Amino acid sequence: MTGPGAGTSFALGDLSVRRMGYGAMQLAGPGVFGPPRDPVAATAVLREAVAQGVNHIDTSDFYGPHVTNRLIREALHPYPQDVVIVTKVGAVRGADASWNPAQSPAELTQAVHDNLHNLGLDVLDVVNLRVMGGAHGPSEGSIAARWTALAELQQQGLIRHLGLSNVTAAQVEEARGIAPVVCVQNQYNLAHREDDALIDRLAEQGTAYVPFFPLGGFSPLQSSALSEVAARLEATPMQVALAWLLHRSPNILLIPGTSSVQHLRENLAASQLVLSDEALAQLDVIGAPESSEAQHSAPS
Ligand SMILES: NC(=O)c1ccc[n+]([C@@H]2O[C@H](COP(=O)([O-])OP(=O)(O)OC[C@H]3O[C@@H](n4cnc5c(N)ncnc54)[C@H](OP(=O)(O)O)[C@@H]3O)[C@@H](O)[C@H]2O)c1
Repeated sequence: MTGPGAGTSFALGDLSVRRMGYGAMQLAGPGVFGPPRDPVAATAVLREAVAQGVNHIDTSDFYGPHVTNRLIREALHPYPQDVVIVTKVGAVRGADASWNPAQSPAELTQAVHDNLHNLGLDVLDVVNLRVMGGAHGPSEGSIAARWTALAELQQQGLIRHLGLSNVTAAQVEEARGIAPVVCVQNQYNLAHREDDALIDRLAEQGTAYVPFFPLGGFSPLQSSALSEVAARLEATPMQVALAWLLHRSPNILLIPGTSSVQHLRENLAASQLVLSDEALAQLDVIGAPESSEAQHSAPS
């Protein structure tokens, strides 16, 4: 039997966060654009997360745009001392809700200042460079110029630590040669396991891996094996999906997104789930390349 140990913390440079965090993207309006349907409920989710011990909040100024950062500021500022806010730069939103690359040094600098302003901070805890890559994941290519621009802002004292998002293993190595990388945020979940080797390598280096779409994102995870394990544990499939990630590697930090206090509580409770070896073996099959389960449950 294995306990996921979610109460334990993990270092992001000289900062420390609990392994179960919260992703704020779902707080913006439909399509991550515009204001939330229910601003009072959005504020309640943020306050409940912190009340329950969450001290790792993931956001970006391009959610809304500006919406989630302003909600975080309204709900939580002045921030409790242990709360670490991780934001990301590298895109801007069009008037039609499109996501457009904004990766020149001038655009990255502007994004850092926008995040500082909207979050009400003098220094950002962690900034992820969100590389735009291909349609559904990373693509190879040098990120040196972009990363160097952020490293300069870090040296100016505007950013404490840097991370990467939507990147390949080669891009992580290239970045590490220029400035330390405290976390990598890529798409990964039970059914979407292209980063297995990268996770293991980052674990050896003591670097956090933060999966986005841990519950499948816009295409929620669905799998008969997942439902069977959940039923046996008297838990929900989403809780089992999160518990599996906590078990997968000690450097995995979770930021499940939700706009609902009920789902937030359910997700946080996943850290108490214990997965037997039998359950783990059953779940591991879901993401196996030859598995028809994987094909049916992989997010688009
Ligand atoms: N770096 C990147 O490129 C990138 C990309 C995407 C996301 N992110 C970050 O990663 C975080 C997590 O990703 P995500 O929010 O897109 O996807 P996710 O966490 O995989 O799933 C969120 C979806 O699951 C639903 N959900 C959450 N808890 C649930 C539960 N207990 N039962 C049933 N449904 C539940 C949510 O709906 P409800 O609101 O109804 O609960 C929402 O539709 C984001 O918040 C964001 O901070 C980063």
